[in-house]
Amino acid sequence: MNYRKLGKTGLDVSEIGFGAWGIGKTMWIGASDSESLAALRHAIDLGLNFIDTALAYGDGHSEKLVGEAVRASGKRVYIATKVPPKNKRWPARPGIGIEEAFPRDYVVESTETSLRNLGVEQIDVQQLHVWNPEWLASDEWRRALEDLKTSGKVKAVGISINDHQPDSALGIIETGLIDTVQVIYNIFDQTPASSLFPACVKHGVGVIVRVPFDEGALTGRITEATVFPEGDFRNHYFRDDRKKQVEERVKAIAADTGLASVTDVANLAMRYCLSEAAVSTVIPGMRSMSSVDGNVRASDNGPLDAAQLETLRKHAWDRNFYG
Ligand SMILES: NC(=O)c1ccc[n+]([C@@H]2O[C@H](COP(=O)([O-])OP(=O)(O)OC[C@H]3O[C@@H](n4cnc5c(N)ncnc54)[C@H](OP(=O)(O)O)[C@@H]3O)[C@@H](O)[C@H]2O)c1
Repeated sequence: MNYRKLGKTGLDVSEIGFGAWGIGKTMWIGASDSESLAALRHAIDLGLNFIDTALAYGDGHSEKLVGEAVRASGKRVYIATKVPPKNKRWPARPGIGIEEAFPRDYVVESTETSLRNLGVEQIDVQQLHVWNPEWLASDEWRRALEDLKTSGKVKAVGISINDHQPDSALGIIETGLIDTVQVIYNIFDQTPASSLFPACVKHGVGVIVRVPFDEGALTGRITEATVFPEGDFRNHYFRDDRKKQVEERVKAIAADTGLASVTDVANLAMRYCLSEAAVSTVIPGMRSMSSVDGNVRASDNGPLDAAQLETLRKHAWDRNFYG
């Protein structure tokens, strides 16, 4: 496992972090708590020291599991969590004021709930779970985030950027008031490399890469015949003929890069994210020990070479499956 700086926070974080949405068991169906705890434990044993969760993941269930695993490990593991928007609207939509999503007192209360769920004294990174650039001039988020830091409830603050809108964070990055951003970056969505990453490097903002596998598409395991459990959000994400589209795209990536099997694309997808120097940590969802092993191996394999990166450039795919 390799480690990188999380921007100006100075924290040395493992370049593979743990994405803890799936273990919350609401929108992702199928995890068992014992397997999730085993995956968390295994990851920490292999040197992972950064976990991304959120109060919204199973209404605190993910936070409770993360807290349990971290406390039991006895190791220094950094925990990032998120304040859900008060109006429960994902993503943030234009025209909705910040007082509906993140009023100052609500942000503080939500953080206190997360501290209790996690069973820790301080949250390492507290993030606003959505961001709308129209809120930039508002005092509400500035006071909330500053008060959280001053009170010692959180060490660092950041935002989770709306799906596929990396440039919507450029304004808040320039204020110098946030320490991290969380953004979708993968072989399909390469857009953060154009403006977001250079801005993060310039302002010392740590980059947390989410959804490195495009919700599993880039693992090569999703085919036209894949059936997701009832109630799982991927039934919506991969609806209509999208599984077929994904299967064809992933086959093309494997063929172009000379891989023996489509499932080798998972390693390539992780190393694609790690090849970008601006990235601090990549947080795949991994509810199983075998996924943990695969991702730690990708860190050990190191970045892709220039020719591979050039080949992958043409596999960018501009679309938004969340909508
Ligand atoms: N708005 C937001 O702030 C937001 C939105 C989405 C996600 N996130 C964060 O980003 C994290 C990652 O996103 P995600 O979990 O939605 O999707 P993802 O990381 O793109 O994909 C997760 C899927 O990939 C599989 N997988 C992981 N490693 C693998 C490997 N080495 N080989 C084969 N398959 C592998 C997982 O399987 P198993 O789980 O079965 O092992 C799971 O099915 C989330 O957990 C969450 O922390 C934040």
